[in-house]
Amino acid sequence: MQKTQDNWESENKVDSENLNHLKKRFGDSFYLFDLEQLRANYLNMFSAFKSRYSNIIIGYSYKTNYLPTLIKEISNLGGYAEVVSRIEYDLALKIRVDPKKIIFNGPLKSQEDIALALKEGSIVNLDSFYEIEIIKDLILKDKSKNYKVGLRVNFDMTIDGMSPLQDGFKQSRFGFCLENGNFEKALSELNKIENLTVVGLHGHCSTHIRSLKVYEKITQTLCDISKEYMSNTLEYLDIGGGFYGNVPETMQLNNVPSYDDYATTICSIMNKEKAHFKNEPFLIMEPGLSIVVDTFKFFCKVVDVKKNKNEYFVLVDGSVHNIKPTIYKKNTPMELVKTNKDVYKADKFNVVGCTCMEKDYLLIDYIGEIPKIGDFLIFSNVGAYTIVLNPPFIKERPPIIAKIGKNFKIVRQKEKLDDFINSNVYVF
Ligand SMILES: Cc1ncc(COP(=O)(O)O)c(C=O)c1O
Repeated sequence: MQKTQDNWESENKVDSENLNHLKKRFGDSFYLFDLEQLRANYLNMFSAFKSRYSNIIIGYSYKTNYLPTLIKEISNLGGYAEVVSRIEYDLALKIRVDPKKIIFNGPLKSQEDIALALKEGSIVNLDSFYEIEIIKDLILKDKSKNYKVGLRVNFDMTIDGMSPLQDGFKQSRFGFCLENGNFEKALSELNKIENLTVVGLHGHCSTHIRSLKVYEKITQTLCDISKEYMSNTLEYLDIGGGFYGNVPETMQLNNVPSYDDYATTICSIMNKEKAHFKNEPFLIMEPGLSIVVDTFKFFCKVVDVKKNKNEYFVLVDGSVHNIKPTIYKKNTPMELVKTNKDVYKADKFNVVGCTCMEKDYLLIDYIGEIPKIGDFLIFSNVGAYTIVLNPPFIKERPPIIAKIGKNFKIVRQKEKLDDFINSNVYVF
């Protein structure tokens, strides 16, 4: 089939010929979003859990990547929206998510936010005592309706004598602490309100190990707490996100559980415990990274190659913010697309970005064929946090191209000055 601008026959592999085509259409740096991979990830997770436990809900964590095309697809697939701020809540409404399919979490919710979410019948999980004061104020004013809320629980997550929390924290900052009595205090405050029922528990935990033991602990602890305090009223247990998705071999991680492994562990606990509750509770999951990380690739052109002392520095049209905004050291998988016919020599090199920060490294001490000017580097596994945590800093943000079947569609334009420093927002 002939390659045309609007209907471009895709090959699985990007070579210099089809790259040329992409480059002409989309410029020297862009993201490619694979919509079908997103569908496959969602459906894999859904079927792994649904085949083992009947009442499941997948609420996609908006903050991980709220590209409208992506969140609309999740919604079309039946997924709920997990939001942690009013702006994310409003975004879900804007793409016409049924408010009953919005899970409102997060540490900061105003009185107005809570009032709206409760009125609309969204799932609201409270995180701190100030929200209980808001609830009292709101609900005591309106006794005509019955309201429901959930509570985020903070419990000791020590596994094999160590805290698995991300960034080495010993103690999570979120939720009502079980060990010091705050959880019980929060529950008893809320139970005093006649027309309010606590119907759910939330136990998300961001760990660096993402292991089965983490989910065994979360699921069992939530079951134990609800058996003790709310066996007649429980409607859902929300175990949060934090799962692994597809992990590329080059990342050299061992013992990465699959969705089937996670589902076997979690659902066996749910099935063992469900008889303790008046109604079979829903199991809610809030995946972010695992659903989206492998759906994005970042393409960028090599602009220069130079040596400082003995080290090679390859400058690209992009920055570390485009592939790992949290600036961790580990290298992300990279593929070199050669556009030169000359011989390539293998050596150690760094890939650096277009900002003026010394720490703007896309790859450090990478060993492979040294790229040449005009080549392209394709970084994969960059779908989590890159779109949402990509600051308007020095250079406009690149366009995002969605690959939908065999077609390519621009789903975010390359920014211009007025998008970067918006004159509706800034005073000129
Ligand atoms: C409450 C909550 N749910 C879900 C997630 C998604 O986690 P992940 O992207 O690791 O799946 C997060 C991430 O921090 C979170 O805070």
